[in-house]
Amino acid sequence: MAHDQISIPLLLFLICTLSAATVNHATLTGKFGENGAMKRKLLDNGLGQTPQMGWNSYNHFPCKLSEELIHQIADAMVSTGLSALGYEYINLDDCWAELNRDSKGNLVPKASIFPSGMKALANYVHSKGLKIGIYADAGTLTCSKTMPGSLNYEEQDANTFASWGIDYLKYDNCHNNGLSPQERYSNMSKALLNTGRPIFYSLCEWGQDNPATWASSIGNSWRTTGDIKDTWESMTSRADLNDVWASYAGPGGWNDPDMLEVGNGGMSTEEYRSHFSIWALAKAPLLLGCDIRSMDNETFELLSNKEVIEVNQDKLGAQGKKVKKTGDLEVWSGPLSDNRVAVVLWNRESSEATIIADWSDLGLNSSAVVDARDLWTHSTIYSIRDQLKATVEAHACKMYVLTPH
Ligand SMILES: *[C@@H]1O[C@H](CO)[C@@H](O)[C@H](O)[C@H]1NC(C)=O
Ligand SMILES: *[C@@H]1O[C@H](CO)[C@@H](O)[C@H](O)[C@H]1NC(C)=O
Ligand SMILES: *[C@@H]1O[C@H](CO)[C@@H](O)[C@H](O)[C@H]1NC(C)=O
Repeated sequence: MAHDQISIPLLLFLICTLSAATVNHATLTGKFGENGAMKRKLLDNGLGQTPQMGWNSYNHFPCKLSEELIHQIADAMVSTGLSALGYEYINLDDCWAELNRDSKGNLVPKASIFPSGMKALANYVHSKGLKIGIYADAGTLTCSKTMPGSLNYEEQDANTFASWGIDYLKYDNCHNNGLSPQERYSNMSKALLNTGRPIFYSLCEWGQDNPATWASSIGNSWRTTGDIKDTWESMTSRADLNDVWASYAGPGGWNDPDMLEVGNGGMSTEEYRSHFSIWALAKAPLLLGCDIRSMDNETFELLSNKEVIEVNQDKLGAQGKKVKKTGDLEVWSGPLSDNRVAVVLWNRESSEATIIADWSDLGLNSSAVVDARDLWTHSTIYSIRDQLKATVEAHACKMYVLTPH
């Protein structure tokens, strides 16, 4: 345990410092090199200034898409009040297209499930005040093998998406023939920019080639991990794998530890509360992955916590990270706008425990006096000095915003 306490934060610090030096160099050359225009255009289109929020079909409905489902999900996003909290993208994942392109080489929506076509679907989603996302793959076939990949069809497919009114692309990594991800993902980035339509670009390269170090110039978010599963082990490991890249995230480009499993049934309410809190603190995309048409009250309570969402959407855009680890008792923290600090006390042990965050762990002046807003009980503890301390249930967390006097 003593070994963990000292070596892990130090190791992360070294990794982050060394990698940050590398990326600064890359960014500088990029700014004045051939990628510079591309980067400026992506940032200029205004997308991803805060992490994207919405819904994606895959975690709950892999390959069980239909026009009716997407209509009902869009309806539910509005009627539940979730859209008013910022959830705006309705994203289709794999399995929406026919296996074969048409005679002109265009992707074709699968007629048996999308009989009215994609333009009509986009119109419906837009009529609800929402945006629509689609899925494609930077290889020869998508992961399900039920639809063609977009490798060598980047321009054509990007133009097709723009003509349908698509607002977001998740670009997967299956069947890629071992070709360079930087090239494959850049080629689609250019194709999307060339359409002239602002399309949020989400790279799903699974973190294999350290995309945090190169993707911020070409995309709005990049996966840092393989797919999440609806288990405590999978969720905690995605959080840790993503955490290493914290220094690379910022307005316009975000680390993506994969979509939310909250509400899908594989974890307890407290485990889902931890999942949602850590994703929010880490400025991860908040893409709902449950059936929002029939979510229970506890799921809705978690996903609709306005104060937690505000941490995720804070305009400073600094990814909070693990700042202290004592066994499996962890403190995660990061700065917010207006000199505030977000904190999660996370008990990853299997029994109740007390967790302490000292001001020095949180980057606060040792003489600071703060008010601590508890974002889950919606109550405030006034004028605290020296440290924040709480008893936390097994696999649960407490989440706060600290405001110095
Ligand atoms: C990317 O696009 C360039 C220019 O069209 C092409 O020469 C290259 O083969 C493409 N790279 C990949 C990996 O598809
Ligand atoms: C869920 O919330 C609704 C609306 O607030 C309420 O009417 C219902 O009783 C709640 N159900 C449970 C099981 O708490
Ligand atoms: C901490 O706060 C005190 C009192 O406001 C101030 O004098 C001191 O410079 C601060 N220290 C640091 C490291 O900011």
